[in-house]
Amino acid sequence: MQTAEIRRRFLQHFEQRGHTVVPSASLVSPDPSLLFTVAGMVPFIPYLTGREPAPFPRATSVQKCVRTLDIEEVGKTTRHGTFFQMNGNFSFGDYFKEGAIAHAWELVTGPVADGGLGFDPDRIWVTVYLDDDEAAEAWHRIAGLPLERIQRLGKKDNYWHTGADGPGGPCSEIYYDRGPEFGPDGGPLVDTAGDRFLEIWNLVFMQYELTDVRSKEDFRVVGELPKKNIDTGMGLERVAFLLQGVDNMYEIDEVAPVLRRAADLAGVTYGKDHEADVRLRVVADHVRSGLMLIGDGVTPGNEGRGYILRRLLRRAVRSMRLLGVDAASLPELLPVSRDAMSSSYPELATDFDRISAVAYAEEEAFRRTLTSGTALFDTAVREAKAAGAPALSGEQAFSLHDTYGFPIDVTLEMAAEQGVTVDEAGFRALMQQQRDRARADARAKRTGSVDVLAYRRLLADHGPTDWQAYRTLRTDSRVLGLVADLAGEDGGQVGDQAAPAGPGEVTRVVLDRTPFYAESGGQVADAGTLTWDGGRAEVLDVQRPVRGLVVHQVRVLEGELAEGAQLTAEVDREWRLSACQAHSGTHVVHAALRQVLGPQALQSGSYNRPGYLRLDFAWQGALTPRQRHDIEDVANAAVRADHRVSATYMTLPEAQAIGALALFGETYGEQVRVVEIGGPWSRELCGGTHVAGSAQIGTLALTGESSVGSGARRVEAVVGIEGFRYLARERDLVRQLGELLKSPPDGLVDRIGGILSRLRETEREIAELRAQQTQAAAGSLAAGAKDVGGVAVVTASPAGLSGGDLRTLALDVRGRLGERPAVVLLASESGGKVALVAALTPAAQDRGLSASDVLRAAAGPVGGRGGGKPDVAQGGGTDPGGIPAALQAGEEAVSTAAGR
Ligand code: ALA
Repeated sequence: MQTAEIRRRFLQHFEQRGHTVVPSASLVSPDPSLLFTVAGMVPFIPYLTGREPAPFPRATSVQKCVRTLDIEEVGKTTRHGTFFQMNGNFSFGDYFKEGAIAHAWELVTGPVADGGLGFDPDRIWVTVYLDDDEAAEAWHRIAGLPLERIQRLGKKDNYWHTGADGPGGPCSEIYYDRGPEFGPDGGPLVDTAGDRFLEIWNLVFMQYELTDVRSKEDFRVVGELPKKNIDTGMGLERVAFLLQGVDNMYEIDEVAPVLRRAADLAGVTYGKDHEADVRLRVVADHVRSGLMLIGDGVTPGNEGRGYILRRLLRRAVRSMRLLGVDAASLPELLPVSRDAMSSSYPELATDFDRISAVAYAEEEAFRRTLTSGTALFDTAVREAKAAGAPALSGEQAFSLHDTYGFPIDVTLEMAAEQGVTVDEAGFRALMQQQRDRARADARAKRTGSVDVLAYRRLLADHGPTDWQAYRTLRTDSRVLGLVADLAGEDGGQVGDQAAPAGPGEVTRVVLDRTPFYAESGGQVADAGTLTWDGGRAEVLDVQRPVRGLVVHQVRVLEGELAEGAQLTAEVDREWRLSACQAHSGTHVVHAALRQVLGPQALQSGSYNRPGYLRLDFAWQGALTPRQRHDIEDVANAAVRADHRVSATYMTLPEAQAIGALALFGETYGEQVRVVEIGGPWSRELCGGTHVAGSAQIGTLALTGESSVGSGARRVEAVVGIEGFRYLARERDLVRQLGELLKSPPDGLVDRIGGILSRLRETEREIAELRAQQTQAAAGSLAAGAKDVGGVAVVTASPAGLSGGDLRTLALDVRGRLGERPAVVLLASESGGKVALVAALTPAAQDRGLSASDVLRAAAGPVGGRGGGKPDVAQGGGTDPGGIPAALQAGEEAVSTAAGR
């Protein structure tokens, strides 16, 4: 059964059982505490924790996921893939254990003819959490499973959470028995290697809120979730490989084509050699993960998601090199992966130009890194040898890795070739230190759900915050509670009432009343101050972690801030005005986009802060300069028209009736707030703060337009005084260019156009002259050939030629030497480096000479290396002073070989 068919059956099964089909969310996790979407439940976390009401009682999805904890294990075992798809069904306070078990059983064992997956019920085993009698009993009763095929395991296997603080609970896993040829009998309890009994589906009974999550088994339960939920995950790839009768996930229809292409390129046969197989699987997995991640807008970088993408792509390229493929390999492999995946994800095909450009550029960058890293490595080795200690230190290996992106396995391998050892333990220790630092940083950044219980308590005791952000910038308020900042040094207990905070300390404050806008709807939080008798604090951030409660994160500047204090809360007036300009500007740009591009250009996300805004919207392909110009024009005309900006409350159906735009993924209450700019000109559901008339937005200038994933574009703009400053800077730039090129601003384009075409013309002439010179040189070099033991030998060192030009020259000289046994060895210094080329005629090869031998002999004296085929070999070195010796050594190699 094809993978796409399994996905279709899964969704249909649950749709027929009252589930809303929800499309896959992006791999870039919608939950800020996770780098990637690691499970089907991630997009539903707000509904599971009760932070937001679930819009449907049941849902189902096939979610793209990436897990990267086990990158090193990929390919070695058959169970680790970095990218995979998780089929899931979810219940938000609707059915619980029994329902989940019944739905899963029907699909797994349902006959293929009736839309099921057709697994043999006699080969199904399940596990439940140690004390979960209820689940065990349900399996026995509903599925008729004999008790000996219902096993119990501990937290490591039968408890599930995302790895970060949030929802979790005991789970029950469904296993398929692949038969005695894969291992001993006895069920998952016995088969710890997991080769015979393969887990295909995990049913999580999600009912707890967890905190202090440090590992699979180390966490704390802080309390029950508001409702009991179901979260399940069926590994699409695993089911596919079982139903396709292949051995593992790398061999299924969506992955195998890449593996086969890689094997072809490397000229190896899959299944013959364990080491090569592992490499091929790494390639197949990583190429697909790279494709999917770039598809979702991730670009290679040195941190976070970008770093992981970079590692995956580089490991793929590196594995191809280890398989003996030196040429760029992604251009061969990525299109194959696209073709295998695009029936499920058509955007991969439409967006492939962008995706492939990103991937190929990364491969090129890595190839350059390998080249420059090799030079550094050589220096390190030379120094080590000179110092009489043929070993590279952990620091050297770490710096090669950390600064130059040189993978440790490359270092180890090259060191072994040179007979040098590497202090690998030292290297690993430094890596570990770096990881610990990164983890500590990540922990310090994480805020949010941990304090939810404390906030719920405050909300229950005092009711919702009296929120005055629309009405005033200043309120007299009372401190209802301080909540310890868990990221702080003292690491107070969750839910503790914090001690009063003194100067320099950061704490979170809940007030009875506040004028501060809490970050939401794309608008950043207000800045401002709290002042009280004898003290003052600056407001750093404002959030609404639970509905109805506004929480201020503040730093105390003077005095002491304690519960019960009376104070004045005041928003920074300038900040708010600029924030209003930016948010109203966002609505104006959105309306202008839709006016110019059409109503399908619907906003999918936005962010605005004083002076700046950006807006993501549904659109294929880049905007043309004309479209950008028109959008800016329409937006600025609306600003000049000084439309009235108003906000009114109504029900959602009323708002929809007048055409107000509700944004995808937002949830709305009974009454919605509709913000209008110029009546029907712009109508959006919005909780943000706005200017009173559109002229107050001031200057609005688009600064950029880019892709943010398949079918989504982003425009960025600056507004108000920032808009003016931006235009003023551009004007200055034009003036400076005008002065430099001695041209009035209007003539600049022509002037630069003229200069560029002259430059191109000159470059062409230079290339022509160089070709002529090379030809002339070739003639005289060929004429000066020496006889060495019956072989015509040309050695020369023309100046300033790079590898490519030098090779052309060598081939030209060789051509002129005709049928004779002849050897051409050229060396050239260019930019402090040495290029070497050796070329032999067929007659010379017949005499047992080889270009790679000649080249290897010549490379030593210039401190280099190189190799190639018997007819042409190429290389380089770092020591131009050694050129004469190099030519000499090459000639001697010829003479020795010719004399044999
Ligand atoms: N969220 C659960 C898992 O990923 C279903 O295994």
